[in-house]
Amino acid sequence: MTCIEDLRRRARRRVPTMFFDYAEGGSYEETTLRANRTDLDRIKLRQRVLVDVSRRDLGNTIIGEKAALPLALAPIGLCGMQWGDGEILASRAAQAAGIPFCLSTMSICAIEDVAAAVDRPFWFQLYVMKDRGFSRALVERAAAAKCSALVLTIDLQVLGQRHRDVRNGMTVPPEWRFANIANIAMRPAWALSVLAGKRKTFGNLAGHVRGMEDVNSLAQWISGQFDPSLTWKDLEWIRALWPGKLVIKGVLDVDDAKLAARTGASALVVSNHGGRQLDGAPSSISALPKVADAVGSDIEVMFDGGIRSGQDVLRALALGARTCLIGRAYLYGLGAGGEAGVAKAIELIRNEFDVSMALCGVNSIREIGPQVLAWD
Ligand code: GLV
Repeated sequence: MTCIEDLRRRARRRVPTMFFDYAEGGSYEETTLRANRTDLDRIKLRQRVLVDVSRRDLGNTIIGEKAALPLALAPIGLCGMQWGDGEILASRAAQAAGIPFCLSTMSICAIEDVAAAVDRPFWFQLYVMKDRGFSRALVERAAAAKCSALVLTIDLQVLGQRHRDVRNGMTVPPEWRFANIANIAMRPAWALSVLAGKRKTFGNLAGHVRGMEDVNSLAQWISGQFDPSLTWKDLEWIRALWPGKLVIKGVLDVDDAKLAARTGASALVVSNHGGRQLDGAPSSISALPKVADAVGSDIEVMFDGGIRSGQDVLRALALGARTCLIGRAYLYGLGAGGEAGVAKAIELIRNEFDVSMALCGVNSIREIGPQVLAWD
């Protein structure tokens, strides 16, 4: 396993197509999904030589928390369908690597399951549902689990269609279509991991929503529950419920970034939801420098969208991010090799980042700025 692409290839063989595609895909024609990668690839790094780079330090603080790397594991819906107990495995790998893990509202393992599996506090990602009582209860559960930050996703008031999911009939648990059964039968290690896993459905929701005990109606409830009426005003409600650290995820526009900076949140995440929402939106990396310029030091800037290597982390930091979030990159590791696979994904990115810093002539992440980029 030399790079994230190796993990990806192995995950594709081991994870049923429906779930691999769910992770891999984007919305509609997937133009924004592709742009996230191609725009990162276009950014050239500036090679420097004969600089003393013998004292390299990759450490950082992320919203006040010490971290071994400027990296965090992004919230991923259905992570536990990539591999049984996926959220527990990933949170342990993040803890061992000394970086933050963020649990999704739409996870398979529940907040309480992850809290029992790790000592290091993790972050909880929240979708505000129409049922505000339920959203409040989720926030209270995150507080009881001693989560150290609430990550509020604000770019999913309506769901962008992912054609692959429609074609594959993607449901949780899988719909028993012939094609799905045949596909799963060829992936016995996955099937065993999921069968042995704690949960088979959305762990944060099941058993917490009255009258919605069976899984199909739960899925319907989810699709009807995202709230299109949400506005910046609702953030005051969240603020009152959660006095702790808040991260606002899903900002791509300078005007929105300025509004986010005024909320008193600790950080914003420049993100187009991994190319899974507005197809046709700019790539995340092209939006980053404008957002970073607009908010200055008013709020920490995090970045996600297409990070597959340590070189990508360096590019994003050079363009104004303080921290990068990885989603697919760690999911490939999870599908390829469970907890060890996630650890491998983090280690690969760490080593690439370390070597690339050295080859650009920098010793610490504080030194990384636009000067590490080569402009034509
Ligand atoms: C959910 O957040 C998704 O992108 O599927």
